[in-house]
Order: sequence, then C-alpha cells, then structure tokens
Amino acid sequence: ASAYVAREIANLIIHKQKEGKHCVLGLATGSTPKTMYAELVKIHKLEGLSFKNVITFNLDEYYPIEPEALQSYNRFMQVHLFSQVDIDPANTHVPDGTINKDDIRVYAASYEKEIEDAGGIDLQILGIGLNGHIGFNEPGSSRHSVTRMVALDNSTRLANAYEVPNMSQVPRLAITTGINTILRAKRVVLLAWGMHKAHIIRRAVEGHVSEVVPASILQEHEICT
Ligand code: F6R
Repeated sequence: ASAYVAREIANLIIHKQKEGKHCVLGLATGSTPKTMYAELVKIHKLEGLSFKNVITFNLDEYYPIEPEALQSYNRFMQVHLFSQVDIDPANTHVPDGTINKDDIRVYAASYEKEIEDAGGIDLQILGIGLNGHIGFNEPGSSRHSVTRMVALDNSTRLANAYEVPNMSQVPRLAITTGINTILRAKRVVLLAWGMHKAHIIRRAVEGHVSEVVPASILQEHEICT
C-alpha cells in the first residue's frame, strides 16, 4: 500500500511537471507514513523523480517544541523525506512549534493563507489516531476548523510516547491544520495499518458522520481513499 500511494504521488508530481506547475502535497508524520516516504525516496534515487516542483504543508507539530527535538515533526520530515530528496527547503512547511503563544493566531492564519496562495493542496496524506483524529483534530473538533492551537487527548499523548522515556515528555499542545483545511484538499488518501486500527477505520468508513470521530467526516469528501 505504501508503494501504491508513493506511486500515485510520483505520478502526480510528474504530471504537474509536464504542465509546468507546482505539486502541492499535504503531509502527515507518525509511524504510518514512514514506509511511504521510504518508497518515495526510493523512486527519487532509482528513477530520478525530482521534487523541484513540489510544495509541502505538514498537518501538525507539537507545541512548544524545538525543531531539532526528538519528537519534533519538523525533525521527522527532515529525516524521512526532505533531506533525502531534491526539494527546495523554501517549499517545505511544517507548523513552527517555537512561535510565541501570543502570535499563534496570526501565525495559524498565515499558514492557511500560504496553502491558499500555493493553489490549495492537490493531495493530502493522512494517518488516523485510535480515537479517530486526523491531523491533531481530536474528537469534538469542528468540521469548520482551520489551522489553530489545540490540546492533545491523553490517549494521543500515550500513543505517541513510544519514542520518549515517559509520557510527561510528550507535549500537551499542538498546532494543527483543521478538518476544513483537510476537506479542501483536492484528493485525500488516509493510511492505516494493522489490526489495532481496524476498529476505528470501521467507525470512520461505515459509521455515522460525526465530529465524535473526526475521520468519519471524510465520508463527505468526494475523492478520498
Ligand atoms: C501526524 C498526524 C496524526 C497521525 C496519527 C496516527 O501528522 O497528523 O493524525 O497520523 O496520530 O499516528 P501513527 O501513524 O503513529 O499511528
């Protein structure tokens, strides 16, 4: 599945190159997309796929956090993709976990504007939390939500504590793009691996569309896989 999705992304990048256009990708972090990034890096190295026309916007970042920190999603993206391909660093966007708290509203609005100015997201990659979150839009997030600061669920902090000695080192806050931001992407692909995700995938795909399971709102997206 990772190879399949990486191939769709590569084809989109090439298609946009031929049209002389940018390809705007919405990207996720976490354990799920690692194999997909590895496949993309492979296509870059073995087939010469260039990322020169690619602009990326990541879904989320912890707050507060330094970009070099172990848990930082800025660091994650450098390690798994950006440092391994020929993307222009100026074209990569991951929410900044070092912004002054008083400036977050303005910063969040500018993140939305940058997405809009880039022409909107052509393809959004998502993972899913065990509680149905997409990005860090936890249960109860409004379908009209856009980029903002949020408090993380304890279950999310626990699930993401595997890389650090204890849960207290997982930040309590994050900056995330919103459900509305995600719904505006022209194409959405949600990845989930393993039995432990089956229950929430069932609720997201077959259950009622409800803000209680944020991923279920994707049922309203026209081209979501
Ligand atoms: C990460 C993100 C989150 C993760 C989700 C699943 O950028 O937005 O929604 O996709 O928490 O995480 P993993 O893949 O670690 O199970």
